[in-house]
Amino acid sequence: MRLDKYIADQTPHSRQQVRALLRRGRVTVDGVVARDPAQHIQPEQVVKLAGEVIREIGLQYWMVHKPAGYVSATKDREHAVVSSLIPMEIPDLHVAGRLDRDVTGLVILTNDGAWSHRLTSPRHDCAKRYRVTTLEPIPDAAVEAFANGILLHNENQTTKPAKLEIHSQHQATLWLTEGRFHQVKRMFISQGCKVVALHRDRIGEIELDIAEGESRKLTATEIASVP
Ligand code: URA
Repeated sequence: MRLDKYIADQTPHSRQQVRALLRRGRVTVDGVVARDPAQHIQPEQVVKLAGEVIREIGLQYWMVHKPAGYVSATKDREHAVVSSLIPMEIPDLHVAGRLDRDVTGLVILTNDGAWSHRLTSPRHDCAKRYRVTTLEPIPDAAVEAFANGILLHNENQTTKPAKLEIHSQHQATLWLTEGRFHQVKRMFISQGCKVVALHRDRIGEIELDIAEGESRKLTATEIASVP
């Protein structure tokens, strides 16, 4: 791979910035100052930028415990973004399954597009677990309605069967295998209930186990659990 691309891929610097760093003699390859952006790099070669070894970032998989107020994105002009809760810069990072800004809980970020597609595609039946609090009492009939699938406003396909467990008049747990726009809130509205708090704490086999605002890498077992 070209030296400038290699450095740009593994660091927060753009290719243009990398070329400037090369011109300034800030890069070495196997201990020799390198100035040619087109120099070809072999995997076993040691590239240093300002004296620090650049390591391959490779495929990255992170969980974040999203606080309310953060947007499920890596860039936003107005609001804090969930990726800012990860303590390193990762090129091509994206959110695998967004949460609304007011919603809290488990968000997964990765730079592995095929893996995140498997995690979020309704075809793979990966259940997401939501803890729901409502303003109005939840009717018992919602359990059957959600199990059968409901037709949401302005849509022409019913929702996939979803499991609802009602814990009290205003609290329930819902398992969804798809992620339509504002799906949980709209499903409850169809039953006459406004959602006042929503928290996701599990996606497939991956369970949220860190404090709000924290992040951690997924384990090899969690990564492999996505079919
Ligand atoms: N359903 C919603 O309504 N909002 C979310 O953020 C996730 C699921």
